[in-house]
Amino acid sequence: MADEESKDWILMVTAKSPTNIAVIKYWGKRDESLILPINDSISVTLDPDHLCTTTTVAVSPSFRSDRMWLNGKEISLAGGRYQNCLREIRSRASCFEDEKKGISIRKEDWENLHLHIASYNNFPTAAGLASSAAGFACLVFALGNLMCVKEDLGAISAIARQGSGSACRSLYGGFVKWNTGYDVSGRDSIAMQLASESHWDDLVIIIAVVSSRQKETSSTAGMRESVETSTLLQYRFKEVVPKRILQMEEAIRNKDFTTFARLTCADSNQFHAVCLDTCPPIFYMNDTSHRIINYMEKWNQLEGTPQVAYTFDAGPNAVLIARNRKTAEALLQRLLFYFPPPGAELTSYVLGDV
Ligand code: DP6
Repeated sequence: MADEESKDWILMVTAKSPTNIAVIKYWGKRDESLILPINDSISVTLDPDHLCTTTTVAVSPSFRSDRMWLNGKEISLAGGRYQNCLREIRSRASCFEDEKKGISIRKEDWENLHLHIASYNNFPTAAGLASSAAGFACLVFALGNLMCVKEDLGAISAIARQGSGSACRSLYGGFVKWNTGYDVSGRDSIAMQLASESHWDDLVIIIAVVSSRQKETSSTAGMRESVETSTLLQYRFKEVVPKRILQMEEAIRNKDFTTFARLTCADSNQFHAVCLDTCPPIFYMNDTSHRIINYMEKWNQLEGTPQVAYTFDAGPNAVLIARNRKTAEALLQRLLFYFPPPGAELTSYVLGDV
């Protein structure tokens, strides 16, 4: 990656960030360039050993320009989102000293030093598995470390948010809330941890990859169209989400799976109803996704109390949250029976504890 001359030094930081899955969805912006949402959202951060991004950021006086490679292929950093994150991090950089290696970087030097960035997703990119969330969280976190940024994680999350809204939630583990905020600068539109990963560790998340193809309508374009055309979205963010956020916070606090599952499924279904209410309508789920919903609803009804919650982001892949390991084992068996991998649309399963 580096084209440095031998007299030059190179400084590197590597970070790993998991993806997160929203149980109360973010859908719609009130400011497109700062990425400010129209509603609060709540998510669960996945185990970093499963769906994650690993990013190495390097700086050297021999680098001639900022460059980035994603999954081994060079990509352009010209887009506003990358530039916003780089600018915000650089403006908060502090000095760095390593006497032994003879490296001394003053605060103002960071403006003129170029970066090389290599990022790798261990899961399909842009397939509705929140790759941009893990990607920008990891990039901003790694850059913050490299440039000795002293701000707290909340302030770092506000920078990651400018890369991709959902990225601000991936800086924390466990259950995370992204506050809409009030300030026009976006300073208070930050993520905060509601409960750590150990708080409710009975839960098991299974992701059924229905399709790993890239989605036709990106989340960014989809939510812009919904804001412009969906009347259901107006009702959702004003009337429905504020109440749901409070109920979800309480359900998480009390580890109340029945309420958690009811809210998670209802919010996913309303988000996809908003997509259908958008003009032209957006279809993120497919027939297999619908069959999975149908199956989970029937199973939960049969048991009397919910055993599994389902949620779908901007794609057909199902995120299934089982109330405990025993239920997760039964769920996996049922998925394999009803959606057998050979020749079927379901191709693989990833099992991860919350
Ligand atoms: C359906 O964060 O990918 O996953 O802010 O435009 O980058 P941008 O959108 P993005 O949207 C995520 C939408 C969602 C719901 C969620 O994660 O809350």
